[in-house]
Amino acid sequence: MSAAQIVSAVRLGADHLEVVGDCEVTVADLASSPTGLDQLLREAEGLLIDSHVIVDDALLAFAPRLRVISTISAGFDHVDLAAAADRAITVTTAPVLSDAVADLTLALIVMTARRLREATDDLARGRWNDGLLGSYLRAKTLLIVGFGRIGREVARRALACRMDVCAFDARADLPETPGVELLPTLVDGLHRADVVSVHVDLNPTTRHLFDDEAFSSMKPTAIFVNTSRGVVVDQAALTRALGDGRIAGAGLDVLETEPPDPTEPLLSLPNVVVLPHLGSATTETRRAMLDCAVDNLARCLRGDDCEYVLALR
Ligand code: DGY
Repeated sequence: MSAAQIVSAVRLGADHLEVVGDCEVTVADLASSPTGLDQLLREAEGLLIDSHVIVDDALLAFAPRLRVISTISAGFDHVDLAAAADRAITVTTAPVLSDAVADLTLALIVMTARRLREATDDLARGRWNDGLLGSYLRAKTLLIVGFGRIGREVARRALACRMDVCAFDARADLPETPGVELLPTLVDGLHRADVVSVHVDLNPTTRHLFDDEAFSSMKPTAIFVNTSRGVVVDQAALTRALGDGRIAGAGLDVLETEPPDPTEPLLSLPNVVVLPHLGSATTETRRAMLDCAVDNLARCLRGDDCEYVLALR
């Protein structure tokens, strides 16, 4: 039997090549150069990608022998799961970034609550401490929307800051977490929260989950933080809510279009902190994600158990 062929969107080091064993690995720029894919993917049984590579039915049509897609990301909205399932292709993720994303979420909460963007903007204009006041976190209510791995890490950090923490998740089978009140509806939490932090997957039920109505349900003093996917938020609605004072501020690591157009109105609002999708951007996390994704690919190609296989919902 000939060795399985793998097409990889990233270059692999010797240690990762050892994990995939006999497999033959071809590195390809799948994100920006679709030319030649038909040849490249024709023999591939494994595909290793990151979240910049869109895997749709049209791409899969080039890959008749593909058995496993392993993405070096926690999110999987760039892969058409139904198309993969139709072709009996297993899809795996690498959701080992929870600490990094939770740290960044806390940073965005603090930056927004303490109005640090305004402070650094003032400083850049030569103004030193103009009496700007923010809010601290103790006894403030944090609503976590999406209470999976990352949401639970955010809860730990918020509890350490002595916040009151509640969570909403549309999934029914969530384990109880000490100190966290699980809410039956999203709107309950939106009415109560001083901080709303979003940690859901992007899927048809969460696309534009945060729209005009959701922002109108929040307190005028509340801040909104999103480190999940930009499209979970109707960005025009968020801009309106910030502009007319329906909410007080926002901390965003993700936007509807990345990178954004430089004229994107959110970028120039003083009460908004925007980061360029840095959630998993620590050396340790990126290394762990690659290790995890390569291991997933090797296991699934061998037919071994793998804890990170995605189930089609
Ligand atoms: C992830 O892994 O989903 C990060 O957001 C990078 O896309």
